[in-house]
This record gives sequence, C-alpha cells and structure tokens, in this order.
Amino acid sequence: MTDPNTPINISWHGGQTSIITSGTRITTAKAGQGGGKTTAGYWWLLGRMQRFPGESHLVGFPTYRLLARVILNPVDSERPTLIQFLEQVGEHPILHKVEGWIECVSGNILFVSAENLTHWDGSHVKSAWIDEFDECPVGAFKRAMERTRMKQGYVLLTGTPRHVRWIKQELITNTVQAAMNTMITFPSTANPAYDPVAMEEARLTMPSWEFRRIHLGELAEAEGGNLFHRNWWMRSEMVFEGGNWYAEAGELTS
Ligand SMILES: Nc1ncnc2c1ncn2[C@@H]1O[C@H](COP(=O)(O)OP(=O)(O)O)[C@@H](O)[C@H]1O
Ligand SMILES: [Mg+2]
Repeated sequence: MTDPNTPINISWHGGQTSIITSGTRITTAKAGQGGGKTTAGYWWLLGRMQRFPGESHLVGFPTYRLLARVILNPVDSERPTLIQFLEQVGEHPILHKVEGWIECVSGNILFVSAENLTHWDGSHVKSAWIDEFDECPVGAFKRAMERTRMKQGYVLLTGTPRHVRWIKQELITNTVQAAMNTMITFPSTANPAYDPVAMEEARLTMPSWEFRRIHLGELAEAEGGNLFHRNWWMRSEMVFEGGNWYAEAGELTS
C-alpha cells in the first residue's frame, strides 16, 4: 500500500503529457491497458481543480465497485487511490462516502457511477472525468457534457476501447463534437512500468483486432481492418421461423 506521505516521483510519458496539458472542451484518451490512463486522469483533474479554485468537479466510473477501487480502496500496490493522491499533493481530502463527494482545498469532487445516471445531475461542474468510459453507456458521456456545458468546462474520457460502441458515433461521426475533441492514443508500453514481455504475450495470444484495441488503443474492427459499420450500433431483433433464425434490424443502441 502506498504511504500517503511518500512524495510523488513520476515522470509522465508523452501520451500522459498530452492528456494533462490538453485544453480542449473534450479530451479522449483511448489507450492500452496499463498505459497510465488513470494516473494521468488524477493529474488532469488536479490541474482543473487548482486552475479553477472553488469549483466542483465530477468523476464517473462504469460501476460502483470500480469507483471504490480507484477512489477508496488501494488494490494496485503502485498507484495510489484518488484519495491518497489528493493527500500527497496537499489537497487535504475529506471523504463524504455516503453522499459521494470529496471536499478538497481547491474544490469539491463528486463521484458517480454509470449504474445510476440520475446521480450525475444536480450541479454544474467545471470538469468531468470518466474512467473506463467505453464501459459506460453513451448516456454517461452525454451527462458529462451537460454538467460541464454551463461553465464551458472540460470533459476527459480515459479508457481502453474494448467496446467500440458509441466512440465512433459521438467522437468521429459527430463532426461538431469531434472538432471539440483531442483524441489521444498510446500503447500499454508507453508506460515505462509496463513490461514488454507482458505485451508480447498479449500480442501472441490474442486475436490481432483485440490486441490492437486493448493494448494499442486502436478502434480495430473484429475482422482485422479499421473500418466501421453502422450495423455495429444496431440492435438486432431475432425471429425464429420455419426452423431458421432471421435478423431484423432494430434501433440504434445507446
Ligand atoms: N509515467 C509513468 N511512469 C511510471 N509508472 C507509471 C507511469 N504512469 C503510470 N504508472 C504506473 O503504472 C501502473 C498502471 O497505471 P494506471 O494509471 O493504473 O494505468 P491504466 O489506467 O492505463 O491501466 C500504475 O502502477 C501506475 O502507478
Ligand atoms: Mg485505469
């Protein structure tokens, strides 16, 4: 477990620097597992807190369990929890666990799970960070945009593009939104702490498209190309008739 009193000694890699210094309305870091996304998210958040003292900020996760691991319970022996990190940088965090917020010197952080999107409403924040964003429904991203809109704040999305789903729809096909976004992509091994032997094992054992998504951060198509089909966002209604299954195209999934 990281001692909260240990000074932080970390030098960012290029992908992390791009995240932390990004000044666009939206910043999307789709990058390899273990590449240092969550760590960069901490620093991005701290930068916004200290630049805009007294404002509130939102941190979202796909599930309460993941939220608890990143914010509260040390699991990764190397990476501090968000609370420990805030201690280390002198923000003197006070955790209000039940109500879901952290009181800090520079402002308040509300933490929420995509399991209950109504919890995301209620306050206008200066920044919103969603970790493992691709595991969240598109509604989480829309909430983050809404909650930061009034103050023309900042949205950070960090994740591994394991589920491609709405990433293309919102951040590439939607050209207005795409123009507000800085897209950052880096592999797991951009992190000097990521063992190249582990990367090689993944490369040899995973289907190439999956490796490219999970370890290179690419929006790779299952067949191996990098094309997108509208069908990916379609929900199929299956009909069983005369001993055969037929697919009827349904609505766009969210
Ligand atoms: N620039 C860096 N240099 C050295 N170690 C790093 C760096 N960035 C992150 N780490 C460490 O690498 C591990 C993985 O980082 P993390 O931010 O959890 O990655 P991700 O969220 O991309 O899976 C953690 O133990 C973290 O402390
Ligand atoms: Mg992470």
